[in-house]
Amino acid sequence: MILSFTLLCLDPVYGAWELDAKKNTMIVDIDSDEKATVNVKCRSRDHQTVCWRKKKRALGCNMELNLKVKEQVDGGNFTCHSDNGLILDYKLILLHMQNVPQHKRIFSKSGEIVKCSVKSYSGNFSCSWNSTDDNNIEYIFKAYRSENNSIYCDEPTKNKNQYTVECRDTQTCIYEEEDQSITVVLHAIQLHRYENYTMSFMLREITKPDPPQELDINSTKDNKHILIHWKYPKTWCNLHSFFPLIFNVQITKDKRTTEADKNIKSFCVQARDKFFNSTWSEWSCYK
Ligand SMILES: *[C@@H]1O[C@H](CO)[C@@H](O)[C@H](O)[C@H]1NC(C)=O
Ligand SMILES: *[C@@H]1O[C@H](CO)[C@@H](O)[C@H](O)[C@H]1NC(C)=O
Ligand SMILES: *[C@@H]1O[C@H](CO)[C@@H](O)[C@H](O)[C@H]1NC(C)=O
Ligand SMILES: *[C@@H]1O[C@H](CO)[C@@H](O)[C@H](O)[C@H]1NC(C)=O
Ligand SMILES: *[C@@H]1O[C@H](CO)[C@@H](O)[C@H](O)[C@H]1NC(C)=O
Ligand SMILES: *[C@@H]1O[C@H](CO)[C@@H](O)[C@H](O)[C@H]1NC(C)=O
Ligand SMILES: *[C@@H]1O[C@H](CO)[C@@H](O)[C@H](O)[C@H]1NC(C)=O
Repeated sequence: MILSFTLLCLDPVYGAWELDAKKNTMIVDIDSDEKATVNVKCRSRDHQTVCWRKKKRALGCNMELNLKVKEQVDGGNFTCHSDNGLILDYKLILLHMQNVPQHKRIFSKSGEIVKCSVKSYSGNFSCSWNSTDDNNIEYIFKAYRSENNSIYCDEPTKNKNQYTVECRDTQTCIYEEEDQSITVVLHAIQLHRYENYTMSFMLREITKPDPPQELDINSTKDNKHILIHWKYPKTWCNLHSFFPLIFNVQITKDKRTTEADKNIKSFCVQARDKFFNSTWSEWSCYK
């Protein structure tokens, strides 16, 4: 028993895995100075002679290609060809270098790489991240509610150095309680290198409502008091009793008036989830 378990751990492709998020892509985890051995099979229908190439370089003719991988130059796009040169299959080999210092990584900064926020429990949320430099990094963003339940996200859009992606989880708002967290994964590919960043959150934790709207000031019928009004932001869940907000109000007084109740000149109000310590909205002001 023990012996077979040990043999399993010595599997030569240990540390290499298929990246689901990108077609025909294999990631090799490099965490020491030793070379990793990777076997790549050419999936072709007929039994024929196949030859491997990387770009123009011929790598021998065998169904299975045996690669030693250690540095970036060892990665790349490996193609297998028929006798007449047609491409039958390919495999992109990328390296995940675990032993490089932080500042040399694709995600060269530590801490919170991706920021996500939501305006409402409607199920729509957005995430953003900053590209440290413009060196042709390919980003693939994925979100899941659970292992088998992926959330639809649009393609990321880029504005200067900031990428933003919009996602929609079709199952929220219906629930009073959110019991399963959302996991987001950002895959980054730069030349032959690969890295990823993962984080999980509950929508409640990242909620930042839009500012309150329809602010107004007027007075009571008898003109004795001033009333200030505002409404929930339109983007907030309609079920206000399930998802109540609390508000912060800031009042600016008019010094020229002495009547205590009638000297409100302007006011500002911001909102936050009542039951969860998440982010306050921006201020909305009546002037
Ligand atoms: C790798 O080569 C295949 C076959 O030519 C091609 O379809 C694929 O786009 C290439 N991938 C990359 C990342 O260069
Ligand atoms: C969620 O986003 C989709 C598409 O971006 C949009 O059509 C839909 O109206 C949004 N839902 C809410 C409640 O904001
Ligand atoms: C990206 O940069 C902008 C502007 O410098 C900053 O406000 C924002 O917080 C950064 N985003 C992340 C995820 O660090
Ligand atoms: C996800 O799907 C796989 C295969 O369909 C199944 O084996 C696994 O148990 C599922 N996981 C969850 C958490 O439902
Ligand atoms: C991120 O990379 C590590 C190391 O290569 C890998 O073990 C892990 O499965 C990856 N995460 C995802 C979500 O693909
Ligand atoms: C005060 O303003 C609100 C909203 O604009 C309005 O519905 C209400 O009738 C006003 N009250 C008075 C006394 O003018
Ligand atoms: C709420 O969050 C703020 C900012 O993250 C933090 O300073 C404060 O201690 C938190 N309060 C509670 C009661 O958790």
